[in-house]
Amino acid sequence: MDKINFFPDNLDVQNKTIILRLDLNVPLKDKVIKDYTRIDLCLPFIKRLIEKKAKIIIISHLGRPKKNKDPALSLMPIYKYIKKILQTNIYFFMGNFDDKVKDKFSHLKEGEVILIENIRYFKEETDDDENFSQKLGSLGDIYINDAFSCSHRKQASIHKITRYINKSYAGPLLKKEIDAINLVIEKKREPVTCIIGGSKISTKINVITSLLEKINNLIIVGAMANNFLVYKNFKVGKSIVENNTKEIVEKIYKKAAENNCEIMIPRDCKVGTKFDGEGKIKNFDKIHDNEIILDIGTNTISKIKEKIDQSNTVLWNGPAGYFENENFSHGTMSIAESISRNTFEGSLISVLGGGDTIAAINKSKTRLSFSHLSTAGGAFLEYLEGKDLPGLSVLK
Ligand code: 3PG
Repeated sequence: MDKINFFPDNLDVQNKTIILRLDLNVPLKDKVIKDYTRIDLCLPFIKRLIEKKAKIIIISHLGRPKKNKDPALSLMPIYKYIKKILQTNIYFFMGNFDDKVKDKFSHLKEGEVILIENIRYFKEETDDDENFSQKLGSLGDIYINDAFSCSHRKQASIHKITRYINKSYAGPLLKKEIDAINLVIEKKREPVTCIIGGSKISTKINVITSLLEKINNLIIVGAMANNFLVYKNFKVGKSIVENNTKEIVEKIYKKAAENNCEIMIPRDCKVGTKFDGEGKIKNFDKIHDNEIILDIGTNTISKIKEKIDQSNTVLWNGPAGYFENENFSHGTMSIAESISRNTFEGSLISVLGGGDTIAAINKSKTRLSFSHLSTAGGAFLEYLEGKDLPGLSVLK
């Protein structure tokens, strides 16, 4: 297998323009950063490049903008935060990528930084557009992808840009992520339990079906579980449910049976009538039309803990509930604490991934230990699945 080109720390980059693709996709509420983990992890490498007197152009996306240049998804709050920390001139680029774009970056001096506004404001980014990739590539001498968590996306600043720049490398954070996940894949011991939460089953379906061949238990939590409850004919009130998932769920059950993989879905839940309100534990046959399932219930938590205690490897992606409101964070926190205890006191191999999972864990008041905490969500799952990620293949 071809090897990824990692950025050599001794490379002379003085006066070279580096295009640095980062994942600064952090949770925001009313333009306030709710979790700094992803940004903070990127800072040492940016500082190192400043020290090495490179000219640095940072690209990142934020969320998935639907309306034109959605102001709620501007990188401005992130710009303000890194501007306070980095001891250099740092600019924010809000312009367009027209034919004169190169001139707009020509003022950048050694050791200075430009952060480009949310790259997904440009439709050409998600289209992996040739012309746009060429314009992006023309801005620099060296491209570095330090965003493992975005490397499953075939998008211009991750994928096609590498065709239009002299040298492309993977950065140190990306290296750390894949080294850690590779180690876990090699050392993986059965029984292996995979806990999948979050909301969208359709985005995780391929990963789930492929994981079923490799694991012993699959635990479904979060809004994802609502699709399984509907499949089992429970009424879920106003809870988030995706359309047309019957076939997907059926396929998952069928494949699980073929591969001897046990599927566990919640047995009870905590409901509320609004996201910022209080909760009530309920069984699934008692949910009212105006209620929303916002966490797993106590009975479910005990069953999941039992499974974790019996496992030797646990992979976890996606929270169990609406952890942003403390009233609905108990499920997520209990899973985190149980995995942490088994890792610390026992010999559990635990790998956790996803921006939301990390944001949830960071809210915990207790110190938690895991074998590896990945900032990546989808990329982490696809890598585990054994897929060749588009953003990594172009660095080989
Ligand atoms: C993530 O949060 O997993 C990454 O930032 C990728 O985001 P995406 O799923 O919107 O591509």
